[in-house]
Amino acid sequence: MDYYIAPSLLSADFGRLAEEVRAVEEAGADLLHVDVMDGRFVPNLTIGPPVVAAIKRCATVPLDVHLMILEPERYLEAFAEAGADVLTVHAEATPHLQRAVARIRELGKKSGVALNPSTSLSAVEWVLSDVDMVLLMTVNPGFGGQAYLPAMTGKVELLRSQLSRSALPVDIQVDGGIKADNVAEVVRAGANVIVSGSGIFGTKDYGKTIASMRQNIRKAASTTA
Ligand code: DX5
Ligand code: ZN
Repeated sequence: MDYYIAPSLLSADFGRLAEEVRAVEEAGADLLHVDVMDGRFVPNLTIGPPVVAAIKRCATVPLDVHLMILEPERYLEAFAEAGADVLTVHAEATPHLQRAVARIRELGKKSGVALNPSTSLSAVEWVLSDVDMVLLMTVNPGFGGQAYLPAMTGKVELLRSQLSRSALPVDIQVDGGIKADNVAEVVRAGANVIVSGSGIFGTKDYGKTIASMRQNIRKAASTTA
């Protein structure tokens, strides 16, 4: 399995976004996780397509755009045009999930579906062949810097075993409260795309942090397979 580390720019210094992008890329980021919030699906507001386009202009690694917005289907074209490489929509945010994830692929992007901590895995059961990634939220979405919800480890395990049985090549992304010291737990459970915001941007040396995360991922992965 391939493992990816995706720093969440939500915890970056927005006044120095281009510098922060360069710094985490030099530090070894595989993807840049970009959190889009609408103040409706989640109680917080962040950025829209123009800022995603600005990040795209200075980024060299793919942009992994996490849409925490109601009716995400209304904005898929705009975010695709802005330069998203992966577009993830929440199952709770649209009544027509299959149409939304299929549209993302039609736009030539990788499609992802996200679940809040309390949403059952059955919500994605019938779209698994339409997605490249399932994002399991490991905190309630809306803010960086929250504590990992330990019950989510079992949810990751269950999804990984379901995916293995169906032999579908779907990544499992985890997002929320992941740091160098607990990344092994989610990797052992079966996650392979690791988002970390405050766990990276809240440290002084991004390079050292990402290297130690990667080492912990490697160790955990070798005991998993
Ligand atoms: C939360 C966002 C996350 C957030 C994670 O709603 O989806 O991507 O930035 O931040 P940390 O890693 O600090 O929990
Ligand atoms: Zn996110």
